[in-house]
Amino acid sequence: MAAYELIDHEYDVVVVGAGGSGLRAALGAAQQGLKVACVTKVFPTRSHTVAAQGGISASLGNMGEDSWQWHMYDTVKGSDWLGDQDSIEYLVRNAPKAVYELEHWGVPFSRTEEGKIYQRAFGGMTRNFGEGPVQRTCAAADRTGHAILHTLYGQSVRREVKFFIEYFALDLIMQDGACTGVTALQLDNGQLHQFRAKMVVLATGGYGRAYFSATSAHTCTGDGNAMVLRAGLPLQDMEFVQFHPTGIYGAGCLITEGARGEGGYLTNSEGERFMERYAPTVKDLAPRDMVSRSMTIEIREGRGVGPNKDHIFLHLDHLDPKILHQRLPGISESAKIFAGVDVTKAPIPVLPTVHYNMGGIPTNYHGEVLTLRDGNPDSVVPGLMAVGEAACVSVHGANRLGSNSLTDLVVFGRAVGLRCGEVVDKASAVPSASKAQTDAHLARLDRFRNADGSTPTAELRLAMQKAMQADAAVFRTGDTLQQGTDKLRAIDAAGADIKTSDRGLIWNTDLMETLEYDNLIAQAVVTIESALNRTESRGAHAREDYPDRDDANWMKHTLAWKRPGEQVQIDYRPVHNYTMSDDIAYIEPKARVY
Ligand code: FUM
Repeated sequence: MAAYELIDHEYDVVVVGAGGSGLRAALGAAQQGLKVACVTKVFPTRSHTVAAQGGISASLGNMGEDSWQWHMYDTVKGSDWLGDQDSIEYLVRNAPKAVYELEHWGVPFSRTEEGKIYQRAFGGMTRNFGEGPVQRTCAAADRTGHAILHTLYGQSVRREVKFFIEYFALDLIMQDGACTGVTALQLDNGQLHQFRAKMVVLATGGYGRAYFSATSAHTCTGDGNAMVLRAGLPLQDMEFVQFHPTGIYGAGCLITEGARGEGGYLTNSEGERFMERYAPTVKDLAPRDMVSRSMTIEIREGRGVGPNKDHIFLHLDHLDPKILHQRLPGISESAKIFAGVDVTKAPIPVLPTVHYNMGGIPTNYHGEVLTLRDGNPDSVVPGLMAVGEAACVSVHGANRLGSNSLTDLVVFGRAVGLRCGEVVDKASAVPSASKAQTDAHLARLDRFRNADGSTPTAELRLAMQKAMQADAAVFRTGDTLQQGTDKLRAIDAAGADIKTSDRGLIWNTDLMETLEYDNLIAQAVVTIESALNRTESRGAHAREDYPDRDDANWMKHTLAWKRPGEQVQIDYRPVHNYTMSDDIAYIEPKARVY
């Protein structure tokens, strides 16, 4: 191996990732008087939170009556009872506070006539425990994530968070079961770094790019999740992958659910508003798993639109153009650019597209990473936290409700900051790093940098993305999942023959894409094997061979381990069937009818 020099850094807290959750956690830890670094592979305001469109849920009640209890009920039901109810209670109770905090920091929310924060309807958000849609999603037009991300970055700079921008995190430094830091590659000059810290917070987002068509940015490669697997820790509930009903047909770009919240609706080739059949009460505002399945059934049964009858229409053409201009300017532009459609005159061609990973790094509602140790399924991993899409708290369970993600980012980002204030001792010494550990990280980097096989990274990545798209889809069966498992195991094994061409270290995108691919393939294998293992249907995991939810056997979280070169190991954690406080009782499972 070539000789690599590591530049050493010491911090109280190192946050990896600068999206909404990473920034909120970093500035929260800085508010506690801690010395905080944020290591990010893209410029903070290019993080994927920037793409969040429709809004952030909180029961402010600005557009009519609302309550955190209704929000809690909707989130539990939306999760198909796989969500941990203590964490869900924490989310919904703290959501209004987190939104007002954003408002005070400068997020330019859209406004009502009276000057209050504007709220729109979103899927699965209801009043009075399911009676009908409620307007709970706070919006800044259809660029809510953009507004939040820029505000949080400004606030983090103000709090003197030290940013390490365009640094690619490689691996966690682990000692005696505790995390003591992270290694990273500085992309512009190839310099290598070790960040030693009393607390490492993974805020590295989802891994949508394991699929061929996703609304996720190309940077969404789940780097933190993969680091966790390589550290010998489990990921949780990876079989639950959300398809957003309205990706633009062909391009896959997101058309916000807020479009349906503003009155848009879906039609099939017969011009029928088919969601009335599948979800008579909330219709087009059913949760995403149900809408995506309904659209897929319409297409399968020959009622898709277009020459190949392979997509669905989303109508906004009946809405007042002034409202479209005011509330949905971004998607009006996306529809024009990516589908050639003027939304005031014609419907948008749409198709369910991979959007979100409900699974990720298991944590409690403080953001502390959990593992199964000595029979304890809630054993905290010292020195390691996770937040945002990378984490599985689990508030979204088997299916996330639209607009609960931005809430998750800021509520649990804030919780992480507060917890750091409680558990990180400012006066203690920063732990040292074991050279054997960091040498192993560098050896992995060196192996890919000099990989001289015969299969380029792009070929393996495409094969993985196609296999995931075909075999871990909206509907699954034992056969498709077994076929996908076989393909993905073979693709994973073919990594031994990987080829990179650029041997340099300065802006080596070939190397970076290879490291990202290596991160993705581990998560793809874990996802499909977890899906094959779960023989029931729940939320976004729809097994045609096991069409019913099976609470007796499967009301439990999947934990999956996979070290490089090893097979996936599966075990379980119980779902938290208790709430955080005595203010609300556990919400008993029942049929999910909308
Ligand atoms: O449809 C959307 O605007 C996406 C929101 C979300 O995923 O929460």
